[in-house]
Amino acid sequence: MTKKNIIVAIDGYSSCGKSTVAKALANQLHYVYVDSGAMYRAVTLYFLRNGIRLDDEQAVNEALKHIYIDFHKEQGSTRVLLNDEDVSEEIRQMPVSEQVSAVSALKAVRQAMVAQQQKMGERKNLVMDGRDIGTAVFPEAAVKIFMTADPKVRAERRYLELTNKGQNITLEEVFENIAHRDYQDTTRKESPLVRAEDAIILDNTEMNEAEQLNFVLAKVEKVDGKG
Ligand code: DC
Repeated sequence: MTKKNIIVAIDGYSSCGKSTVAKALANQLHYVYVDSGAMYRAVTLYFLRNGIRLDDEQAVNEALKHIYIDFHKEQGSTRVLLNDEDVSEEIRQMPVSEQVSAVSALKAVRQAMVAQQQKMGERKNLVMDGRDIGTAVFPEAAVKIFMTADPKVRAERRYLELTNKGQNITLEEVFENIAHRDYQDTTRKESPLVRAEDAIILDNTEMNEAEQLNFVLAKVEKVDGKG
């Protein structure tokens, strides 16, 4: 009997540390890691660069035909490629962060990304993080985690991360951006951020990275036959 590939869906609010946990889990278990938020960010960057207006449905649809996103592993880190160009750094800058919620709310954008994401999950064991992975992309995922943390703690963590990378930004700006994205992500019409009924909650306000990894590892090992 062939074993079905295992999908781990990690959803949750912005700047909760989803990707940190997801990456660590994928490394540990040798699963493929996919950051679905990076895909929406790459689309946003393409729209910004090409002056695509979000209310111009035809332009949006046309642009989506020319966007190819891929992930490339390089010396332990995963690079995000937009039409073969490495955009890993640029997609984390504020212009993209400010626009990405609006872009990811568009139905056509979501349809295109979900189709690509489902293809990625066809054969391999996979950890994917995002907002709708356990609800829309892989409703049958073997393990679903819903991550959350105190918004102030999230803002402080993201602020440190961005300023360490040299970005000139205040804690208030980061907090505002996170609050705004939470609002947009949870209230949008298309696939709003919502906990799947069968998702396990992971509130990491007071947890370190090792504790979070152990928490999710225990859940996955139950279905991967190692626990
Ligand atoms: O995870 P992130 O902050 O990099 O995601 C960027 C944006 O993309 C976020 O504001 C919501 C959106 N997103 C989404 O709508 N669906 C996903 N599966 C992943 C991200």
